[in-house]
Amino acid sequence: MVEPSREDLFTFGLWTVGWQGVDVFGTAVREPLDPVVAVTRLAELGAYGVTFHDNDVFPFDATPAEKSHAIGRLRQAVEGAGLVIPMVTTNLFSHPVFRDGGFTANDRAVRRFALRKVLDNLDLAAELGAGIVVFWGGRDGAESGAAKDVRAALDRYKEAFDILTGYVLEQGYKLRFALEPKPNEPRGDILLPTIGHALAFINELEHPEMVGLNPEVGHEEMSGLNFAHGLAQALWHGKLFHVDLNGQNGPRFDQDLRFGAGNARGAFWTVDILESGGYQGPRHFDFKPPRTEDIDGVWESAAGCMRNYLILRDRVRAFRADPEVLAALSAARLDELAQATLAPGETLTSLRGEAFDPDAAALRGLAFEKLDQLALDYLYGVRR
Ligand code: GCO
Ligand code: MN
Ligand code: MN
Repeated sequence: MVEPSREDLFTFGLWTVGWQGVDVFGTAVREPLDPVVAVTRLAELGAYGVTFHDNDVFPFDATPAEKSHAIGRLRQAVEGAGLVIPMVTTNLFSHPVFRDGGFTANDRAVRRFALRKVLDNLDLAAELGAGIVVFWGGRDGAESGAAKDVRAALDRYKEAFDILTGYVLEQGYKLRFALEPKPNEPRGDILLPTIGHALAFINELEHPEMVGLNPEVGHEEMSGLNFAHGLAQALWHGKLFHVDLNGQNGPRFDQDLRFGAGNARGAFWTVDILESGGYQGPRHFDFKPPRTEDIDGVWESAAGCMRNYLILRDRVRAFRADPEVLAALSAARLDELAQATLAPGETLTSLRGEAFDPDAAALRGLAFEKLDQLALDYLYGVRR
């Protein structure tokens, strides 16, 4: 049950296990991790694939020869280990040139440079057979008011995605884009801060069908939002293209704990919706092994992400299959919620003419507490 295998589709960003622990208060606590070592170890642990930013694999100032050497090594390691690269993303936040963002930087020359960097990375993503390109605009935002004209910045954001989707179509690449919302950090306020903002933005694009979301547990919970509800709405719109799984304890800095740590109840419902809502893509972990850990702790942390997902998947499946739960769902009128409010062909005259006693209806409880306690019994492991 808790041994991961390739079929579980677990993927990891190279930057997760590779995080050296540099934060705003301290320097690195771990040696740089060779991507080849990361790939090998993750494969041994049962992962299905790896993902990366361009500059996780080759430095920002790499020559074309250095770049192709680094990519060749990674490719060989990935193929040798029997893994895949389902997603690629572009670092538009580390180099100081991106201090005011990439696609929405006030400096037009920076925006043009960001576009060139992403165009190169789209070529690479296509070459490596990735299906998804993630866009996390972590530096696209502001700390102050007048410094960022949000409406103009959104024009530039749209312009960038229209150019890039146009390029993908023109090249015939099989790539789809996934926007990753985050409310703040590193910017005081980041543009497209939540799933809802990003969904609305996609509707304004020239090729909305090519653009979906890569929501992250911690990012929604930083805003106090319910991640599973966000996933459900993204699925409802047909926009859950990818997902970043990790752990967070409420509204505070982006903790990036291993999946299942932090808000465990939220994690239960996250696995529930991922397993039952039709999502077929990778279960991608975007976490940071804490600075307290040495390299052994890094692998413990990575293994823990998969282990917790599998533990919760097991519990969620048992919950959904339990006859007592099915009865509780029906007592809670979930089957009624799934029914259209008007019968097929029914007229508003018939609706208006219906006899109804609101005082009698107001007396009916919904029996949600019993249903929820059954879920918690599974989560806490006292019911199997
Ligand atoms: C963060 C983000 C990043 C992105 C990554 C992919 O808060 O740091 O989650 O880890 O997911 O840059 O583009
Ligand atoms: Mn994060
Ligand atoms: Mn992320």
